[in-house]
Amino acid sequence: MTQPADVSDTIRARLFPFPRAHLLSAVDLERPDVDALLDLADAFLEFGRQSAKSLDLLRGRTLINLFFENSTRTQGSFEIAGKRLGADVINMAVGASSVAKGETLIDTASTLAAMRPDLLVVRHWGSGAAELLSRKVGCSVINAGDGQHEHPTQALLDLLTLRRAFGADVGSLSVAICGDIQHSRVARSNVALLQAMGCEVRLVAPPTLLPSEVDRWGGQVFTDMIQGISGVDVVMMLRLQRERMSGAYVPSTREYFRFWGLDADKLAHAAPGVKVMHPGPMNRGVEIDSGVADDPAVSLISDQVEAGVALRMAVLASLAERMEAGQ
Ligand code: NCD
Repeated sequence: MTQPADVSDTIRARLFPFPRAHLLSAVDLERPDVDALLDLADAFLEFGRQSAKSLDLLRGRTLINLFFENSTRTQGSFEIAGKRLGADVINMAVGASSVAKGETLIDTASTLAAMRPDLLVVRHWGSGAAELLSRKVGCSVINAGDGQHEHPTQALLDLLTLRRAFGADVGSLSVAICGDIQHSRVARSNVALLQAMGCEVRLVAPPTLLPSEVDRWGGQVFTDMIQGISGVDVVMMLRLQRERMSGAYVPSTREYFRFWGLDADKLAHAAPGVKVMHPGPMNRGVEIDSGVADDPAVSLISDQVEAGVALRMAVLASLAERMEAGQ
């Protein structure tokens, strides 16, 4: 059995200064940096399986989790990641406080900057909000989801999950991203990163849930679920984001499940050995059937959550390494 010291030695050997001051987009990193980050995250994942899980790589650093939208797993994942690295982690649920009183994003940013955090993890309903904040605060900003734009750590943790499930040669995989693509920052980040890795990416959705500029995304578009997932190695399901819909995009959730919900019958059209992913939170019986979501032979959904903590530890630790280097 590996002793704790061995794993932390591996972590220290794989640490590298993050190549940028912020992580705003899934394509902020060049391929060698993606590989280095995932190698580091792999070591953190093994570390997280031990009983003693704390390190001091972020000791003395302050991490603020600034969430303008509700979140359970992403916020919790960053909080656990920061705490396991020894940072002081402060959660600010802004929706409930100053913003409700009319404060602008820039005011919030200056207030936070005056508190001198080292790392700011931001989730906001507005596309581009994380980028805007990164120009106003003097610390590293990590985009934890901005509107319908990007969610880079989700795409990176999905890639880590795929690498662990299929081996290093992820570029040979075909991946179908299915469902509410129009409202999904997860889809945008994943399309960009998976294509940069060389994967064949398919976009599978009813016409009402495809963004108007989808032709420019580069993936093959399908408006039939069975055709879209035929022969693919990975089916990545998306949540129907009803909170971002102003009109009726789908006739009813029952109807949606019939045509677009992933169940065992539809999944039988994919390649043998297919794996299923979902960023969560899941609408069971709407976009995915419990029989598929809970089948350990096909579902990578819990693996994604575990990879999320490890990947975020890798991002935080390498940003701190950059700070130590005075960059
Ligand atoms: C995603 C998000 O918030 O963008 N979830 C997540 O980060 N765990 C996807 C979603 O909300 O459907």
